[in-house]
Amino acid sequence: MSRTLVAFLLLGVSCSLADPLYRNEEEPALPQLDGRIVGGQDTNITFYPHQISMRYNGNHRCGGAIYEKNKVISAAHCVNTLSGPGNLTIVAGSSNIWFPNTPQQVLAVREFIIHPKYRTLNNDYDAAILILDGEFEYNDAVQPITLAKERPEHNTTVTVTGWGTTSEGGTISDVLQEVEVNVVENSECKSAYSIMLTSRMLCAGVTGGGKDACQGDSGGPLIYKNELLGIVSWGTGCAREKYPGVYCSVPDVREWLLETIDSYADVGKIDFL
Ligand code: ARG
Repeated sequence: MSRTLVAFLLLGVSCSLADPLYRNEEEPALPQLDGRIVGGQDTNITFYPHQISMRYNGNHRCGGAIYEKNKVISAAHCVNTLSGPGNLTIVAGSSNIWFPNTPQQVLAVREFIIHPKYRTLNNDYDAAILILDGEFEYNDAVQPITLAKERPEHNTTVTVTGWGTTSEGGTISDVLQEVEVNVVENSECKSAYSIMLTSRMLCAGVTGGGKDACQGDSGGPLIYKNELLGIVSWGTGCAREKYPGVYCSVPDVREWLLETIDSYADVGKIDFL
């Protein structure tokens, strides 16, 4: 048996983007609080104007965050199975993914760059940069976000947002959801995820479960003090007690993000020479 298979069997880790939204082979979820994201509430894009919906053939696939007018940060696992950026679009500016409540902006993707150390086995270094075809126009509902430099201490309250499923195996949400969770330090999170957890990952959850990101939230932002602290990455099920959500830790991939973004500073501008 392959190592990947063994790891997935052992830990029941659910993330593969091959089956993000519509399939769930896990045991049934524990009863959930009436919830969105899981356990969250409706919010408005103007409170999270960096949030985008990544679409593949027009279907919501993942979340992401605007970093610059033509650059989005998301998860490596959201794009690594694709042969190229064709059929991907980035939608910004609306809280509702089916019925835009504010003028939404849609841009195609010119290119994506996956973290060179990304590892499918455990989603280590689960970060990617998407270079867009064109630029977003900033307004109340469309804004960039800055990158957090440090991991906050254990138990710090942070916020995750997205249109992902509102329960394990459920359906995606039409309205953007927000939920507050608490940082679980890696030494403690190891008890849930053992060797799958690396120092590039950051865990967050709540005691007793019931609040978490879920399928379709991947690539989306975990926010602390209005900065991008994490990228929704993986977890065992969603919102289960003792299984926090796992995020790619932005402070730990920040240098790569900045360097790479820097090296793409002129992409798009060349057209105007
Ligand atoms: N990998 C999932 C996705 O593709 C996100 C999983 C997050 N899971 C969690 N329990 N926080 O959308």
